Amino acid sequence: ADVALLRSQLLSWYDKEQRELPWRTLAVTESDLNIRTYAVWVSEIMLQQTQVATVISYYNKWIKRWPTVQDLAAATLEEVNQMWAGLGYYSRGKRLHEGAQKVVSELNGQMPRTVDRLLKQLPGVGRYTAAAIGSIALGQVTGAVDGNLIRVLCRLRAIGADSTSPAVTEALWSLANILVDPERPGDFNQAMMELGARVCTPKAPLCSQCPVQSHCHSYRKVHVKQEKNSRKL
Ligand code: ADE
Repeated sequence: ADVALLRSQLLSWYDKEQRELPWRTLAVTESDLNIRTYAVWVSEIMLQQTQVATVISYYNKWIKRWPTVQDLAAATLEEVNQMWAGLGYYSRGKRLHEGAQKVVSELNGQMPRTVDRLLKQLPGVGRYTAAAIGSIALGQVTGAVDGNLIRVLCRLRAIGADSTSPAVTEALWSLANILVDPERPGDFNQAMMELGARVCTPKAPLCSQCPVQSHCHSYRKVHVKQEKNSRKL
């Protein structure tokens, strides 16, 4: 019941507060699955090392020039690098291009349709990116843990241990998989990202505006401590 409440509070907040990002407004029809998967793949690769505000115009230009994975496969690496200019970490563009050519030549032009296949078949797609694409584009029910979500989840459960240790990383993935809303996995994961970007920020988080404050163990700890102190005074 607690998890259900957290989901509904987070998603209500997201429905009101989310930024309108171009990769969030794709049509949800079955026939568009290949387009959706391709588009979210492009967005997630761009977002790996670049901020949302910078990615938006690059993403829009890219999709306009290469609307399908077939269009990208037919481009030259030189064109891809030109399009990527300014985004940095050029190997990301190269891997998108390689991946597109692989999809066209080896997978019949069909983008992988499961988290597992995204991970195995697309170069440059790791555990987080596969989970993000799978949930956002394909509705696969999986949590997705990136650097920002490590911070959010550690605060939510007041995990003070080294969050880069393999054991803690595994625990956070388990937690993310428990929390994710099976009805709206992509929105849930993006709501968590939105929370990390806008509210649960690295420095000076805006706890008073947090939709899941009542579930947050870190908030409770600090808050209770302050109450005790004020009683002493
Ligand atoms: N960072 C990585 N993926 C994102 C997404 N889908 N929305 C916002 N920020 C992101």
